[in-house]
Amino acid sequence: MTHTAAIIGGGVIGGGWAARFLLNGWDVHVFDPDPEAERKLGQVLANARRSLPGLTDVALPAEGRLQFCTTLQGAVEHADWIQESVPERLEIKHKTMAAIQQVCRPEAVIGSSTSGFKPSELQAGAARPEQIMVCHPFNPVYLLPLVEVVTTPQNGSERIDVVKTLLQGVGMYPLHLKKEIDAHVADRFLEAVWREALWLVKDGIATTEEIDDAIRYGFGIRWAQMGLFETYRVAGGEAGMKHFMAQFGPALKWPWTKLMDVPDFDDDLVDLIAGQSDDQSGAYTITELEQIRDNNLVAMMRALKTQDWGVGALLTKHEDHLRESGTEAQPVDHTAPVVTGNRVVPLDWTDYNGHMNEARYLQAFADATDQFMAIIGCDAAYIAAGGSYFTAETHIRHLDEVNAGQIIRIETTALGGGGKKLHLWHEMYVAEKMIATGEHFLLHVDLKTRKPSPASPAVDSALKEWVEAHGERPRPEGAGRAIVSSPPR
Ligand SMILES: NC(=O)c1ccc[n+]([C@@H]2O[C@H](COP(=O)([O-])OP(=O)(O)OC[C@H]3O[C@@H](n4cnc5c(N)ncnc54)[C@H](O)[C@@H]3O)[C@@H](O)[C@H]2O)c1
Repeated sequence: MTHTAAIIGGGVIGGGWAARFLLNGWDVHVFDPDPEAERKLGQVLANARRSLPGLTDVALPAEGRLQFCTTLQGAVEHADWIQESVPERLEIKHKTMAAIQQVCRPEAVIGSSTSGFKPSELQAGAARPEQIMVCHPFNPVYLLPLVEVVTTPQNGSERIDVVKTLLQGVGMYPLHLKKEIDAHVADRFLEAVWREALWLVKDGIATTEEIDDAIRYGFGIRWAQMGLFETYRVAGGEAGMKHFMAQFGPALKWPWTKLMDVPDFDDDLVDLIAGQSDDQSGAYTITELEQIRDNNLVAMMRALKTQDWGVGALLTKHEDHLRESGTEAQPVDHTAPVVTGNRVVPLDWTDYNGHMNEARYLQAFADATDQFMAIIGCDAAYIAAGGSYFTAETHIRHLDEVNAGQIIRIETTALGGGGKKLHLWHEMYVAEKMIATGEHFLLHVDLKTRKPSPASPAVDSALKEWVEAHGERPRPEGAGRAIVSSPPR
């Protein structure tokens, strides 16, 4: 069933929400009175389309339909989820919530993107306060999974469960806060860092670039994978957290911080910071910086996926969800090549030439082989029980280039196999154009002895069924071919 999201306010954050829902298969209705809104949202969507679909190794569902509405009513009346992302002023939020509640379905979720207001403040005076809660995301909403879900007792646990499930369904991580507080958790933290940084610049201790370097070359990447407390636990050495606290606790009393004071936010400070920021980053346009940021975020999140840690572990979980919701092609017809890959080329698969690196062709074909192995029953459970296929030989032909963001589809033919052997032929396509072929020869191995051994009878017979059916097909052009050497001179 397709869900519909109404996006009220389509700026930086509303645009990000629209992209997140749309690319995860929801229909999206946007209402924003700004005549420039459609153009601005188009830019956010373009960034999302080049970065999000390749983030996972499983294809996302087909994009939903996007519609710009001329009235708020048109946007919200059939929506399952209404996300308010209007400017951060309480009277605008109240007016918008009241207008939404006049025309929306009573069971629809109304989430507010507010960075600072508490849910009880948003619910005050509302027709149905139980419908309203804070769902605070992080920019870029289409890539960063965190949503702080802040509720009041009015919301009820059933509604909160629905909200969490829907957010997880679009690949997000709902962090439900048990108590409301101004600015929730993450922004309180960021505010503290921001205040400290303003003082450091104002007092001439460090420039904007030096402060950013202090973050990105050190504790920033540490935080990205373990956060604050787990990092400090490790810093305590073998004695752990208690030792860490005993060692550094007294330092809190030293007059290091100016956290409680705010520097005068006058023109001088604004000019100083804006000038340093121009020196630091003025060589790039904002669009370029957005794309650099997205490339880096995708690369970091995918790196953490290989470690099955933090945001990377979340990606793996989302892939399981995508597989379960049946977005991957299922093999049915034994007489045709089987689709073993259908994915978007991710941003971290391209090289300095701007196209997919040759090593990634191998990765895509290896993933396709894994998929074929799973289809014949050599799946995770079979491997855990002690049997698997190991690749003995590979031959890849690179016929054409492919860029990040393009969809590649792999079709596989079983050229031969049985007993210890498995011989596969993969063809990689972009739409109907073949861009590479990959031939794999594998041997079944006993994982205890690490020596070749026959596959189980069940796997063997499933494989033979494919080999027999595919044997009826013409032999693929290029199969069995080695490198064509230059003719003798
Ligand atoms: N920018 C961030 O990093 C960030 C992060 C998390 C949450 N937020 C929160 O998200 C909300 C939106 O912030 P933003 O950064 O996207 O601001 P923005 O200025 O980029 O976008 C606000 C949009 O709302 C539209 N708008 C104004 N009045 C409206 C109305 N009555 N009905 C419909 N649309 C209306 C504006 O035309 C504009 O396009 C704020 O509550 C903010 O605190 C911002």
